[in-house]
Amino acid sequence: MSQHLLLPLVILAISPIPGAFQDSALSPTQEEPEDLDCGRPEPSARIMGGSDAQPGTWPWQVSLHQGGGHICGGSLIAPSWVLSAAHCFVTNGTLEPAAEWSVVLGVHSQDGPLEGAHVRAVAAILVPDNYSGVERGADVALLRLASPARLGPAVRPVCLPRASHRFAHGTACWATGWGDIQEDDPLPLPWVLQEVELRLLGEAACQCLYSRPGPFNLTFQLLPGMLCAGYPEGRRDTCQGDSGGPLVCKEGGRWFQAGITSFGFGCGRRNRPGVFTAVAPYEAWIREQVLGSEPGPAFPTQSPEPQSGLPEPTDENCTIALPECGKAPRPGAWPWEAQVMVPGSRPCYGALVSESWVLAPASCFPGRISSDLPPRDLDDWRVMLPSRPRAERVARLVPHENASWDDASNLALLQLRAPVNLSTAPRPVCLPHPEHYFLPGSRCRLARWGHTEPAPGAGSLLEAELLGAWWCHCLYGRQGESVPPPGEPPQALCPAYQEEEVAGRCWNYSHWSLLCREEGTWFLAGIRDLPSDCLRPRAFYPLQSHGPWISHVTRGAYLEDQLAWDWGPEGEETETQTCPPHTEHGACGLRPEPALMGVLWPWLAEVHVAGERVCTGILVAPGWVLAATHCILRLGSTTVPYIEVYLGRAGAGPLPQSHQVTSAPPLLCQTEEGSWVLVGMAVRGSRELFAAIGPEETWISQTVGEAHFLPPSGFPHWLPEGGDLCPPDMARASGSPRAALFLLLLTLLIQG
Ligand SMILES: *[C@@H]1O[C@H](CO)[C@@H](O)[C@H](O)[C@H]1NC(C)=O
Ligand SMILES: *[C@@H]1O[C@H](CO)[C@@H](O)[C@H](O)[C@H]1NC(C)=O
Ligand SMILES: *[C@@H]1O[C@H](CO)[C@@H](O)[C@H](O)[C@H]1NC(C)=O
Ligand SMILES: *[C@@H]1O[C@H](CO)[C@@H](O)[C@H](O)[C@H]1NC(C)=O
Ligand SMILES: *[C@@H]1O[C@H](CO)[C@@H](O)[C@H](O)[C@H]1NC(C)=O
Ligand SMILES: *[C@@H]1O[C@H](CO)[C@@H](O)[C@H](O)[C@H]1NC(C)=O
Ligand SMILES: *[C@@H]1O[C@H](CO)[C@@H](O)[C@H](O)[C@H]1NC(C)=O
Repeated sequence: MSQHLLLPLVILAISPIPGAFQDSALSPTQEEPEDLDCGRPEPSARIMGGSDAQPGTWPWQVSLHQGGGHICGGSLIAPSWVLSAAHCFVTNGTLEPAAEWSVVLGVHSQDGPLEGAHVRAVAAILVPDNYSGVERGADVALLRLASPARLGPAVRPVCLPRASHRFAHGTACWATGWGDIQEDDPLPLPWVLQEVELRLLGEAACQCLYSRPGPFNLTFQLLPGMLCAGYPEGRRDTCQGDSGGPLVCKEGGRWFQAGITSFGFGCGRRNRPGVFTAVAPYEAWIREQVLGSEPGPAFPTQSPEPQSGLPEPTDENCTIALPECGKAPRPGAWPWEAQVMVPGSRPCYGALVSESWVLAPASCFPGRISSDLPPRDLDDWRVMLPSRPRAERVARLVPHENASWDDASNLALLQLRAPVNLSTAPRPVCLPHPEHYFLPGSRCRLARWGHTEPAPGAGSLLEAELLGAWWCHCLYGRQGESVPPPGEPPQALCPAYQEEEVAGRCWNYSHWSLLCREEGTWFLAGIRDLPSDCLRPRAFYPLQSHGPWISHVTRGAYLEDQLAWDWGPEGEETETQTCPPHTEHGACGLRPEPALMGVLWPWLAEVHVAGERVCTGILVAPGWVLAATHCILRLGSTTVPYIEVYLGRAGAGPLPQSHQVTSAPPLLCQTEEGSWVLVGMAVRGSRELFAAIGPEETWISQTVGEAHFLPPSGFPHWLPEGGDLCPPDMARASGSPRAALFLLLLTLLIQG
């Protein structure tokens, strides 16, 4: 997982257009007005969540080209001067040669030859001495043009604020640029300048948002000279390629440049407004650099003048935005559940992912997944959404390009003819960003997906816990599934169920989706098409790699940052382990030697819950039996059910087949002296992987004073013939799913 999401908003060149911008051979013109007028367009905006600007609206906006393509934005502040961001020109601590750059002025659409646009070579690039990286501030640059720009209706300078200028918090300002329209989603042809309205955020309000963990659990300390603009809820922002461009605010009929687009944490993410370089503090620096240049930039006085001495409000309300997706009244009552009704076929279940888009398996619409259907063919299609009295009509079907051959891409997006009002229901489900890491132990549920049929019994919505990727590979990979080893991004998400299927009933429906919860918010984490099978769905295809495709098509699906970061004490350690050796009976001497079969193991106890024999416990002291928590407690339940323990008969026969998975067999190893030692308890759902008892020694000995632990010196010595079957270091086996480590000590109430 890459740890850096702090993104300076430069762009890699959009493909150069041969011949699009011939350097105008025109000589510098003399048509400048005597007094440099600024910030007034003729009477007549990367930008995420914005729209096409009208030509001539932002006549100071320039495009900075390198290698023939747009890299950054900038603003004309005087005929020979352009203001931009330092990070556009500094790579690896070195300022790039000015000769590599050119400034395109008066351009609106960057597709094809342009009327009115002209190009200027760059004579010099000036960057503050102490600029050392976007996140350390001073991200400002001045470009001196080789020859002055020709001012005209489409090319005019913007006004600059004086150092004393105060822009009121909450002011609606505008950012403009040709940058990406979403993360990793370039502006489409014809590359028309985008504009977006952003509100200025006070320093305290912005710092409050950035003090909350965001993408990659990052927080950020704003520095003086930085300015935030945007919205706590995100969705409108600058993005890659907008860097250096202006953030302008209108005052007294003039446009002042309040900020220079600098960086962001992703684009348009919740609680991550865009960060700009505040222009006002650089008045002196700018004046110094342009000294002697006539006409220079205009710094009109603010009117009315800001009241000096007025303290900046510091106690602004810290209003963080909460996720707008993924809230369900209770598990199973999914407000995003959509039923797509196609005449002549069974309903297909999908999920609402935005106001206008439903995600469903492409295989629900056979014969239609190879083309984008014209709207007329969709006339009879309907989508039922929760709490909507009438069915929605469908405007468009966009299948995933790889849906026909890749099960992991069996997806299609349906656009509704009219957007729905999102409230408590319908409400969209959250989608993960590609870098999302669903933590092992996350609570998940299966949800209907595609042409699904009722599940066997009531257990279909049963809660599950996510297995770590390594255990998923080790555990499910041995059970007939081909589960790839952990990777980035993951190729499988595996739920570990509380219970396995009821004997004799099989799951023969086609699809399920996996919803996982973080901080009370549900994510659509995975999808699975299940051939007829008598095991619950195992490895799900993670949806996160499809985030970019979904946001590209929908332009507004609710991708949400990872919300849970508590790795627990074990961290990611499990990911570096190898699967324990596999033998018929498990990792190590699980079963007695054949000669011992039929002999009662005197320490084994049968644990019965609510009258049903569920698992094996171990007598560790006269009054105490050790059992795995998952045998006893149902997930989410905190009440201890009615439990009975039978001693002196366990081990006499195997547990019934249907109980094997939950039986949590203990792992016993024999020392050289012949003593049997309890080394591990099976991980939930497995008879092959074990959680070590060793790390629990303190807890067990504190609870059960008389439990007998062998001193470390005498432990462990394995049976010579079985020795190599034991993992060399049993303590390392504790890197198992956390829940499996929860052991439960049962006090025996001796009955008379
Ligand atoms: C950055 O500079 C360092 C040291 O000058 C050099 O080792 C490294 O290769 C440079 N990286 C790039 C991307 O140029
Ligand atoms: C750069 O230097 C100026 C003037 O000394 C100072 O005001 C500013 O805070 C400095 N910026 C950074 C990022 O160090
Ligand atoms: C903060 O919010 C509370 C309640 O919404 C409001 O009464 C108070 O005036 C707000 N304070 C500021 C400084 O905006
Ligand atoms: C479709 O598959 C190809 C080849 O594996 C891959 O390069 C491409 O990114 C996939 N398309 C999408 C939208 O994921
Ligand atoms: C959406 O619903 C809310 C609450 O029911 C209502 O206040 C709002 O006006 C609705 N918006 C639209 C666009 O219909
Ligand atoms: C499962 O599929 C088998 C044949 O594939 C069919 O006979 C059986 O009725 C199906 N079970 C359910 C519950 O649909
Ligand atoms: C996430 O960030 C918070 C606040 O910075 C920190 O307390 C916590 O330890 C971090 N968690 C992880 C797993 O990094």
